[in-house]
Amino acid sequence: MKDKSFFIKSYGCQMNEYDSEKISSLLLKDGYSNINDINKADLIVFNTCNIREKAAQKVYSDIGRVTKKNNNKTIALVGCVAQAENDEIFKKNKDVDIVLGPQSYHLLPKMIDTHNEYQKKQINTDFIINEKFDFVHEEKSPKGVSSYLTIQEGCDKFCAFCVVPFTRGPEYSRSVNNIVEETKSLIDRGTREIILLGQNVNAYNYNDEKNITYNISKLIDEISQLEGVKRIRYTTSHPNNMDQELIRIHGSNEKLMPFLHLPVQSGSNEILKNMNRKYSVDEYKKIIDDLKKVRSDIEISSDFIVGFPGETEKDFQKTLDLIDYVQFKQSYSFIYSERPGTKAANIKDLTPSDEKKLRLKILQKKLEVIQLKFNTSFCNKNITNVLIENQSQSNPEYYFGRSAFLQPVYVKAKNLDVGDIVPIGIETCNHKSLYGTVIH
Ligand code: SAH
Ligand code: SF4
Ligand code: F3S
Repeated sequence: MKDKSFFIKSYGCQMNEYDSEKISSLLLKDGYSNINDINKADLIVFNTCNIREKAAQKVYSDIGRVTKKNNNKTIALVGCVAQAENDEIFKKNKDVDIVLGPQSYHLLPKMIDTHNEYQKKQINTDFIINEKFDFVHEEKSPKGVSSYLTIQEGCDKFCAFCVVPFTRGPEYSRSVNNIVEETKSLIDRGTREIILLGQNVNAYNYNDEKNITYNISKLIDEISQLEGVKRIRYTTSHPNNMDQELIRIHGSNEKLMPFLHLPVQSGSNEILKNMNRKYSVDEYKKIIDDLKKVRSDIEISSDFIVGFPGETEKDFQKTLDLIDYVQFKQSYSFIYSERPGTKAANIKDLTPSDEKKLRLKILQKKLEVIQLKFNTSFCNKNITNVLIENQSQSNPEYYFGRSAFLQPVYVKAKNLDVGDIVPIGIETCNHKSLYGTVIH
């Protein structure tokens, strides 16, 4: 036991959340205890995101709020800002002691010890990704009903607006054995739903010792054979990696949920071209049509960027038209944020900020109306498959679960088992959630 405590905060995507869990278990294994009070912690780990300017800046204002009494506290800034800004970070904020890129978090305990011993700043931003996944340590702590599992990292696509290829490096796929072992461990610790993660999760490609190539379809079929796995999802996909085999298994693999996150970014071919997305609106629509042919109840969610440099009123209208066509059921939308080092940073951006804000508002309102209409369609109906994730601590007669379409479902019931998949009669809803009772 080290008699020291740590606090960890995660910014950004699910992959960062997954990494933070791994970092936590490494630190626990190293003798630290985990606490929720940032000001009492001996070690503070900020696992950062660099995707938009605001996300990247947030960490600096958070560090500013930490009181570093007599240098007794160690501050580690890890993740995508660490990778992108490197030793610049030490100049920006002198309280940071350790800078560590997202591919080397397994080095953290050693770096902390070295820092504490010599009182010298530590930095590592190498891409040594295979070590990150080869580094196995036994995890025994209970897991949630729904758990993330990273199978792929990095990106070779270089969309004009995006920092990920620079922060996470080239595409890398984890070994099938490694993934299956982790899936089994998750099941043993309480997980029923596996969410496969990757910056380009459907670009997964792994050649095993027998020279058998696994793509994501084959991997999904492999892990769905494990009895304890009740549901599978995968995120985030790129439209160009939605091949026919992957589309087909949406029709044949019953454990694969009928809800797919497939970021489109824009509904204008001109903008897609300038974004370097390498697909057209028609190609995107065809993927959706093909998916509906094999699984008619499949629903789609997406990511949108509003106000990409050069986006005209007409381009924006085309995005709204695409929303009408696909009827996205849950989406993330943001105003374009210029990122240093990306191609789009060199494109002249003439659209006024107020105009962008207005477009975002219009787009989000449209998506909200669709969401409400979708949720309302479940009212006074029974849905068969709500996976119960937890029981309310303040009121044990209430449970929380998720539908196949990831809708949050609040359930009034007695004696449900967390991890069960139960039928629920839906009574009310809003655009975000459904409310109901168990059907016996
Ligand atoms: N690999 C995924 C997306 C990963 S990044 C894909 O290709 O779709 C997550 C989301 O952040 C993106 O889908 C995009 O909508 C948003 N994003 C990325 N860079 C951005 C930027 N510079 N400004 C605004 N949003 C951005
Ligand atoms: Fe970023 Fe594009 Fe790669 Fe997605 S595909 S991570 S948006 S560069
Ligand atoms: Fe952010 Fe890095 Fe994820 S930039 S979105 S934390 S891959």
